[in-house]
Formats: sequence, C-alpha cells, structure tokens
Amino acid sequence: MKKSTLITLGSVAAIVPLCVLALSINENKAEQQAMNAVPKIKHMESISAEWGKHFPRQYDSYLQTKKSDQITDMLEHNPALVVMWAGYGFSKDYNAPRGHTYILEDNINTLRTGAPTDGNTGPMPTACWTCKSPDVPRLMSEKGELDFFTGKWARWGNEIVNPIGCADCHDNETMRLAITRPQLERALDAEGSLKTTDATHQDMRSLVCAQCHSEYYFKPTEWTDKNGEKKVAKVVTFPWANGFAVEDMEKYYDDINFVDWTHKISKTPMLKAQHPGYEIYKTGAHGLNDVSCADCHMPYVREGGVKYSSHNVGSPLENIANTCLNCHSEDEKTLRDTVARKLARKEEMSKAAMDVIGKAHLEAGKAWELGATEAEMKEILQDIRHAQWRWDYSIASHGSFFHAPEETLRILGSAVNKGQDARVKLRIVLARYNAAEYVAPDFSTKEKAQQVIGLPFQKLVDEKNVFLNTLRKEWIKEGTDKGLYDPKTREGIVFKTSYN
Ligand code: HEC
Ligand code: HEC
Ligand code: HEC
Ligand code: HEC
Repeated sequence: MKKSTLITLGSVAAIVPLCVLALSINENKAEQQAMNAVPKIKHMESISAEWGKHFPRQYDSYLQTKKSDQITDMLEHNPALVVMWAGYGFSKDYNAPRGHTYILEDNINTLRTGAPTDGNTGPMPTACWTCKSPDVPRLMSEKGELDFFTGKWARWGNEIVNPIGCADCHDNETMRLAITRPQLERALDAEGSLKTTDATHQDMRSLVCAQCHSEYYFKPTEWTDKNGEKKVAKVVTFPWANGFAVEDMEKYYDDINFVDWTHKISKTPMLKAQHPGYEIYKTGAHGLNDVSCADCHMPYVREGGVKYSSHNVGSPLENIANTCLNCHSEDEKTLRDTVARKLARKEEMSKAAMDVIGKAHLEAGKAWELGATEAEMKEILQDIRHAQWRWDYSIASHGSFFHAPEETLRILGSAVNKGQDARVKLRIVLARYNAAEYVAPDFSTKEKAQQVIGLPFQKLVDEKNVFLNTLRKEWIKEGTDKGLYDPKTREGIVFKTSYN
C-alpha cells in the first residue's frame, strides 16, 4: 500500500470518531437552539402536548408530576379541622396537595365542589377553576373576565378540561414567562412594593407561581351583559392593598366586613385563608435574598449536553444536588434534618392552635345554647375570627414552615393567644349561665368530629358518586367533541380520593 493511502486511511480512522463527536455536539447545539427559538404555537393553546412537540424535555418532565399521586387526608390527620370548618366545604373533604397534573382531578373529585346535576347547580362559583387550568385564560380572553367569573362552577365543566399547562406560565409568541391571571397584576400594583411593569426576570420566576399560590377571596362585582342584563360576577381578588403581612390582610377583610362563611356552631363570621404561599415566602431568608420559587422547585438539569428547567414541580428534597447544593455547602443529610426539624416545630405549634380554636368554637356554641346575648359574644367571636385566620394564614400554603419558619411560628403564637383570649372570656360567660365546668365534646377522630358538627358524610359521598358517573362523564365527552381534551394528560392516572 502506498504511503499516501496509509496516511489517508489513518486520517479517516481518526476523523470518523471526531465527526461522530462533532455531530452529537451539533445535535445537542441544535436542540439547545431549538429550545431557545420560538415555534408557532396557537394563542392560548391549552393543550400542553401541542407545546410539547417543540419542547419535549420540558413536557416530559411536566408529565413526571404524575408520580406525586398520594392522597393524604388532612381531616384524618387533624380532626380539629372538621370542627374549625363547621358549615364550610373544607369540613367535608380536604387533602394535602399532589402533583400539578392532578389539579383538575382533585378539584372535580373533592366533596367540596359537590354534585351538580347541570351547568347551573352546585355550591361553588366559576371562580373555583381559576388556578386549575390553561383553559381559564383561554375562556377569559374569549368571553371576557367578568363573564368568566359569573355563574356556577359547573357552567365551565365541559370547557375546562386540561390541567395546569404551558399556557399558564408562557407567552406563545416569545416563550417568555407570562402572567396570565389579571388578579395578580392588579394586586401587585395595589400593594406597590413591586409594580408589575418593574418585575425582573428573576421576579417572574416566582410571580408565575404567585398567580395561584397566593391568598384570595371572591369579590362580588356587578356588571351588565351585552343584552343589558345585570349580573354579579365573583371575581378572584388578592387582598394585598395594605400589604402582604397577616395583620395587613386581616385589616383589609375587617374594613370591608368580609365573611367567607358563618361558623355553624360558634356563629363566628369567619375568614378562610387560602394559601398565601408567595406572601409568606417573601418574609423568609430565601425570599429576602431573591431566591425564586423556580430556583428550588424547577431546578436546571442536564441531559447529555442539554440544560433545561425541570418542569417536574415537586419537593426540592427529591433533588437536593440540583437545588440546595447550588448555594449551600452542608451535606444532604444535614439539610434534610434541618427541614424536618422546622416541620416538627410548626406541627407542634399548629396542633396547639387547632386544639384551642376547636374548643373555643364548641364553648361558644354552648354559650349560645344557654342563652348568651349578641353583646356578650361580640368580642369573643372577633377573637375566634382572628385566631383562626392567623392559624390558617400561617400553615395553609404547606411550605411556610420552610419558606419562612420564624414568621410562621410568630403567627401561630398569636393564633394561640387570640384563641385563649376567647376561651378566658368564654369561661366568664359560661359561669354566668351556670356552666363554668363545661367540657367540649371529644373531636379526636375525623368521624367523631363530623358527628359533633352533624355532617351527613355518607349522603355527600353518594351524591358525589352519582355526579362522577353522569355529568362528569358528559364533560369529558363534550370537551373531546370540542377538540379541547387531551387524553394524554390523564393517561395512567388512577382514580384516588379520601372517601372511595
Ligand atoms: C395555575 C395555578 C398554579 C400555578 C401557576 C402554579 N401552581 Fe403549584 N399548585 C397549584 C395547585 C392547585 C396545586 C394542588 C394540586 C393538587 O393537589 O391536585 C399545586 C401544587 C403544587 C405543589 C405540590 C406538589 C406535590 O407534588 O405535592 C408544589 C410544590 C407547587 N404547586 C409549586 C409551584 C411552583 C413552584 C409554581 C411556579 C413555578 C407553581 N406551583 C405554579 C396551582 C398552581
Ligand atoms: C408553573 C409555570 C410553568 C409551566 C406550567 C410551564 N413552565 Fe416552562 N418554565 C417555567 C419557568 C419558571 C422557567 C424558567 C424560565 C427562565 O428562568 O428563563 C421555564 C422555562 C421553560 C423553557 C426555557 C428553557 C428551560 O428549560 O429553561 C421552555 C422551552 C419551557 N419552559 C417550556 C414549557 C412547556 C413546553 C411547558 C408545558 C409542558 C411549560 N414550559 C410549562 C415555568 C413554567
Ligand atoms: C429555598 C428553596 C425554596 C424556595 C425558594 C421555595 N420553596 Fe417551596 N418548598 C421548599 C421545600 C424544601 C419545601 C418542603 C418540601 C418537603 O417537605 O418535601 C417546600 C414546600 C412547598 C410547597 C408544599 C408542597 C407540599 O406538597 O406540601 C409548596 C406548595 C411550595 N413549596 C411552593 C413554593 C412557592 C410558590 C414558592 C415561591 C413563592 C416556593 N415554594 C419557594 C423549598 C423552597
Ligand atoms: C439560589 C441559592 C439558594 C438555594 C437554591 C437554596 N438556598 Fe438556602 N439560603 C440561601 C441564602 C442566600 C440564604 C440566606 C443567607 C444565608 O443565611 O446564608 C439561605 C438561607 C438558608 C437557611 C437559613 C435560614 C432559614 O430559613 O432557616 C436554611 C436552613 C437554608 N437556606 C436551607 C436551604 C435548603 C434546605 C435548600 C434546598 C431546598 C436551600 N436552602 C436552597 C440561598 C439558597
């Protein structure tokens, strides 16, 4: 063989692997570039699989949230909740959160949304869909915000068929993070410390979450439709005008005499805190240091040469290497133990508060039964209202024990105090009616507590099952006929509830 041929062969042998390497680098580059480019996606496309065609890694990781499918019955864990929420939906059914892909299932299956028989029946307003689906911003843009917020929850059962998805957080034209819920913009502007237009990219990595992980109430708002008919919308509104702190929102609600429901036993005009996750996070070490929700819950991960944000939003403790360890140098075990200790401290204080508040409701119920007057009860009910609001604000977002441990414990302390204030005053009233020795009935299990408040649990379950087998099935069929429903998001999902 000629020397030159040998050299050529040698070069080819050397070049082939180099080419393969270059090719794979190019492929990764091409994929990374495709991820950074903006494809054509329909305005308000609520089917995430359509976005997923262009961004398969984000889509696949988003589908991984299906793995977080465990139902934890919070009423079983803390039976006092049943008493605290007597007369309100949460006393029927309340589970800990699961993965984002379960958002719609859980909203539809909970006993709280009841058993409507058509689009005009059922206990809840349309507002209950607000933080569940990209079909919400789609409907708002098609119908107008006030029309969206008018009527019963069941009105949109055949329109809201996709669980939280890409269109909830991304703009279809630029792929940039986007606020798709107008209530967040209005509230930020009213609160004033961070105007929507001043939000940085890092702020947006938390604000997309704040669209849903925030405190809200349903604000009755009158409007006139195009036929001149007067209607009342129940508009999801964040009570932030005085600030984010528990006292600021308490004042906001007191000033407008807002009442979520009247307690069935104590007759207290109650507030239900929803989940002020963003607000309380802002007071903690991470919020104050500009660490965003996405930094911990959507870490960057690397697959081959491609780096992308994990859309498997869940517990950061499942991925300490890509979250905490980006910034901290302790070992995994130390970090895990630290988080566990914070949780245990919160649990201890929260249980103390629940016990005090549960008893206060029942003692107030006894006082009414014995003939106590409005004048005797007024201050007591205000104490109970504030105690329970504070307890709820501090724990309802589930992560507060870690996001803002000091603030959480401070507020729980004030909840115990307010609850005990009510009980000291109640003892005086009870003594006046010869019941100084009164002991509240046992509410140490979910069943006992539901009996104490007279909840017809089995009836609610039976009605729910009828709904799930009839109207619910029609919604899926109608959604499919309209071309809205994507069976992929429900693939592999097992029907799980606390009651069946
Ligand atoms: C469109 C509303 C919405 C948006 C936007 C949203 N969430 Fe959620 N999130 C929810 C709801 C509702 C649940 C409860 C789902 C369930 O239990 O079915 C939830 C659950 C969670 C959970 C519990 C998951 C589990 O497996 O237990 C975490 C953590 C979470 N969200 C964090 C975030 C973060 C971080 C962001 C922003 C990157 C975010 N969420 C954006 C509505 C939203
Ligand atoms: C709860 C809000 C939320 C949802 C829902 C969501 N994303 Fe994202 N997405 C984010 C955040 C936060 C980032 C990080 C953005 C940044 O810092 O640039 C991101 C980043 C991205 C990026 C930029 C590259 C990267 O990985 O950082 C792409 C592409 C993307 N998402 C696609 C999708 C697709 C496709 C879906 C639907 C399957 C989706 N996202 C759903 C919040 C969301
Ligand atoms: C510094 C990291 C960090 C930041 C920043 C952070 N979180 Fe968390 N979050 C955690 C940890 C750790 C937990 C507890 C997880 C566990 O117990 O498994 C948690 C818990 C939660 C939970 C409860 C999940 C459940 O299933 O009980 C939600 C919801 C949540 N976070 C949402 C948010 C939102 C929204 C933001 C931004 C406003 C945010 N987090 C910011 C680390 C963080
Ligand atoms: C993007 C950076 C960043 C990430 C990610 C991060 N931290 Fe931090 N952490 C900080 C900063 C900054 C502070 C405040 C300054 C300090 O104390 O060093 C802090 C403070 C803390 C503190 C002390 C304050 C308190 O609230 O008790 C603990 C504990 C902590 N982090 C645990 C964690 C854990 C656990 C994770 C993962 C779930 C995590 N951090 C993720 C940056 C980060």
